[in-house]
Amino acid sequence: MTLNRLYNDLAWLWPVISPPEEYADEAVYWRRALWDKLGVGRHRILELGVGGGHNLSHLTRHFQATAVDLSPQMLRLSTGLNPGVDHLLGDMRSVRLGRTFDAVLIHDAVSYLLTQDDLKATLETAKVHLRPEGVLLIGPDWVREDFDGSTSKEFRWVRKKGSVEVTIEEYLHDPDPDDTQIESVYTYTIKEAGQDRVEKDVHITGLFPIATWTRLMEEAGFEVEMTRLPPNRGGYGGVMFSGVLLPQASAGG
Ligand SMILES: C[S@@+](CC[C@H](N)C(=O)[O-])C[C@H]1O[C@@H](n2cnc3c(N)ncnc32)[C@H](O)[C@@H]1O
Repeated sequence: MTLNRLYNDLAWLWPVISPPEEYADEAVYWRRALWDKLGVGRHRILELGVGGGHNLSHLTRHFQATAVDLSPQMLRLSTGLNPGVDHLLGDMRSVRLGRTFDAVLIHDAVSYLLTQDDLKATLETAKVHLRPEGVLLIGPDWVREDFDGSTSKEFRWVRKKGSVEVTIEEYLHDPDPDDTQIESVYTYTIKEAGQDRVEKDVHITGLFPIATWTRLMEEAGFEVEMTRLPPNRGGYGGVMFSGVLLPQASAGG
């Protein structure tokens, strides 16, 4: 699988364009969902697709975390931000750590799953890493219903960190409304030491209806609920699916 530039040669931009403090409000929802389902406690959590660990950085005070990502560059960023967390290289569709957790979290990285087969494989990964009645939380960037019939959306934001200022322009569009994929074309205008340079990056992500998420999670053995998340910088917060692994579906059940 080819890594997007943002998770490869441009990974250094991640903490500039999407800084950890911008995840504080949303992380409250993830913490509440975990404590709501598991009871208050320092539970063992596994995050698949941890990225820079920005969302996770608001959870490490409350939970004992392990993290997996496909990108060595992103793992390096998350390790710097979350030094107490065990970080491992792996693909969420196939990684096997040989141990179980109280919860598995897949934040916006789940958006990089493009087909129902990818979703099924990832749900299997979650399942084999959960103890009976463990909790799975999933937060896709978009669900099909919220794409509200439009074929494109545009976002623009500016972020500054130290001597670097980056203007991010995202053109998000759905070239084929009949498939399960959408495309974001990013332009990063980077101002540094009085010089401007422009970098381009294209991200293909998945787009599935709520009913598909719910059905696949139920077929994998989860009891499912959906919650709305608070609006992010684009004014849209997306959703969180939570699933409790039914004891009869668990490998250990
Ligand atoms: C938007 S970033 C995640 C940011 C993260 N939520 C944070 O708070 O910093 C998406 C991440 O998903 C990872 N990713 C994409 N596909 C993956 C896969 N199949 N398995 C594991 N990680 C994956 C990318 O390498 C990238 O680090």
